[in-house]
Amino acid sequence: MNAPHVARVLIADDEPSIRFVLRETLEEQGFDVVEVADGEAALEQLSNGDFQLGFVDIRMPGLTGLEVLERLPAGPSEPSIVIITAQNTFENAVEAMKRGALDYLVKPFGIAEVKALAEKALRTRALEREVRELRRAVDQHTAHGEQLVGKSPAILEIFKTIGRVAARDISVLVTGDSGTGKELVARAIHTASGRAEHPFVAVNTAAIPRELLESELFGHERGAFTGAIAARKGRFREATGGTLFLDEIGDMPIDLQAKLLRVLQSGEVTPVGGQQAVSVDVRIVAATHRDLDVAVAAGNFREDLLYRLRVVPIQIPKLADRGEDVRILAEHFVSRYADELSDGNPFLTEETIDFLAEYQWPGNVRELENAIKRALVLSSGDVLQTEDFEFLLGDARPAEPGSDLTKLVEADVLEALGQPEPCDIYRSVLERVERPLLASVLSHTEGNQIRAAALLGINRNTLRKKIVDFGIEVPGRK
Ligand SMILES: Nc1ncnc2c1ncn2[C@@H]1O[C@H](COP(=O)(O)OP(=O)(O)OP(=O)(O)O)[C@@H](O)[C@H]1O
Ligand SMILES: [Mg+2]
Repeated sequence: MNAPHVARVLIADDEPSIRFVLRETLEEQGFDVVEVADGEAALEQLSNGDFQLGFVDIRMPGLTGLEVLERLPAGPSEPSIVIITAQNTFENAVEAMKRGALDYLVKPFGIAEVKALAEKALRTRALEREVRELRRAVDQHTAHGEQLVGKSPAILEIFKTIGRVAARDISVLVTGDSGTGKELVARAIHTASGRAEHPFVAVNTAAIPRELLESELFGHERGAFTGAIAARKGRFREATGGTLFLDEIGDMPIDLQAKLLRVLQSGEVTPVGGQQAVSVDVRIVAATHRDLDVAVAAGNFREDLLYRLRVVPIQIPKLADRGEDVRILAEHFVSRYADELSDGNPFLTEETIDFLAEYQWPGNVRELENAIKRALVLSSGDVLQTEDFEFLLGDARPAEPGSDLTKLVEADVLEALGQPEPCDIYRSVLERVERPLLASVLSHTEGNQIRAAALLGINRNTLRKKIVDFGIEVPGRK
């Protein structure tokens, strides 16, 4: 990097030790460093001091870091700001990004992180300006309702993406396994957008029969088909001004995919049996647990629709692949359900947290949430111990031969009973049973799919599709 002159950086934090670490690191990198210990001094320096970069603590005497960020006079020489925060909550991340921060740094941080951020700041002045413009376009909403928590690099990146895309009407495709938080992310995008005062309408395309889905989405005129006694607006129009969440989009029948694409391209819907197209103003967020590239290759999903929906992709990793999130999520759920489900002040021991962090979580965050609820109900005291989670070990071997099927189904039923809303238990249990069944038959036929289909009594194409959907490794197939 060849900066024309020595770059100036301001460190604003009331903790001397933090200032010390930052100064040491940044001076070593060749920055000209100035320190302040409160928000007002930070604002004054950053407004007049010809700084390229500021590391600003979120919580300081005087003004908070976010207030400093907000009050900075805009202009091309405006410094890039990195907000330092001790809390890894979604709100802090989204707020910081929305108000135009370059990035944020979570305490405790490492030297390498600080260096990387400082370099990024110098490299991305242009990007930073773009973020600022974005900030101005964003309504000053704070996310309310359910909180997204996490501190793994993957989830922090997702928080940032939400902050960046929320205000723009571009389509977002959220992918991830069941229970990873796809719907929560979709809601967070809505809440952080300028559409938050308008409806968030969710449609589960997998749960609605094909014959009804079209009118569910686009509405129908009175008498359009048998049973259409009254006209119906349809979910698209119900979401006017707001966000339409198309859940399980990968399960949408292919002919309807064509209609959906036309609606997205024209911005107009035509109700079933209607003549008149009506223009609609909705932002689309779609989600699926399927790999849509595979579905496209298999001819089950339209490629043009995929491109239309996946302007910004958000891929949520499995919980097992972001073990750092288990503690913060577990503690979040304990405090969230403590009042409702227990009498005292329940807490998790370190040993329990270690145990939970080791577990594989096939049902991801939803399974963790339900496990915490179950443990709160069943435990006898305030201390949530490893024994209170032993039921997990029973659930953990769904695919193993000889496991007690009835018990497994029981566990799913119990989980479903614990849910506030009706859930897809029929489908989820079938999926659990189907996968090991197919895998077992295929292994006995040594990968011969014709024999396997005959044994199973299902169509060969159906078998092939299920192999792809479930990602089953067929023995002997290269
Ligand atoms: N990062 C998170 N922070 C807090 N709660 C979370 C988080 N991720 C998921 N949850 C909670 O886990 C549960 C499952 O999340 P959600 O319904 O969004 O998952 P999903 O990916 O849509 O699942 P499915 O594919 O089964 O529909 C919800 O109760 C949600 O509030
Ligand atoms: Mg969902």
